[in-house]
Amino acid sequence: MVAAGPQITKAFESCHMAAVLIECQAAAMSEDKISTNEAIDAALHLDGDPQNVKQFYADWATQYNQDVNAAEYSGPVIAAKLLNQHLDEKEVRILDAGCGTGLVGLELKAMDYSHIDGFDLSPEMAELATASGAYQQVTGNIDMMCAAEDFPQREYDALLSIGVFTLGHLPPQALEVLVQLVRHNGLLVISTRSHYFAQTGYQQCVDTLLGSGQLSQLQVIWDAPYNHDGDAHYWVFKKLLG
Ligand SMILES: C[S@@+](CC[C@H](N)C(=O)[O-])C[C@H]1O[C@@H](n2cnc3c(N)ncnc32)[C@H](O)[C@@H]1O
Repeated sequence: MVAAGPQITKAFESCHMAAVLIECQAAAMSEDKISTNEAIDAALHLDGDPQNVKQFYADWATQYNQDVNAAEYSGPVIAAKLLNQHLDEKEVRILDAGCGTGLVGLELKAMDYSHIDGFDLSPEMAELATASGAYQQVTGNIDMMCAAEDFPQREYDALLSIGVFTLGHLPPQALEVLVQLVRHNGLLVISTRSHYFAQTGYQQCVDTLLGSGQLSQLQVIWDAPYNHDGDAHYWVFKKLLG
């Protein structure tokens, strides 16, 4: 079990805080068109309310892979390669947080990683991840903001969250929750869409976690390919405390 430090406790308590939701909603309220793909654009204009996000993905799940493929989505392959560069063995336990239909798991499986679990807010997306055959266990109906309560702390060696820190989905404080699910010296690989990074307090969350000694930043790739609409930043952290 990972011990909760002061910042971690704060994140845990803030699970349902209105302020967090307000920040998330504020980041999502732009009227501007962000994607030329209708569904992706609608996803980026969600209001961050987990019920609405869940309903949206229930409706999109079966069409998701086709839409993101058409949009040349490269987040999963880049993230999997990045994690692979920082690992020196394959027998590690990996958690895919916000696994969606399982695209990240499939990339990792192709690299011979086999101990992969996943969770997602959307049961429909999680069901498709299960069907992908890339995961040992996939759990639906898990809100990342509450994952430390709802999801058993499993001390994973590595965790990825790709395509989730994006407008309309969830606030940057979710990073504080994810840290709790990783073992001491474990790795986290996170993607942030560039406009998400610009419009939320993600950097502030990172600075707090770095400043309190909970994380060290191993690598950031700025403005790397993500999809045909724009770039993302890819972050690799190591958990230091707990
Ligand atoms: C754009 S998809 C990315 C899925 C997958 N990681 C990928 O790269 O294809 C975003 C996913 O995040 C999930 N999600 C959104 N908010 C979430 C939350 N609060 N907790 C857990 N999952 C969430 C959605 O259900 C959806 O499956």
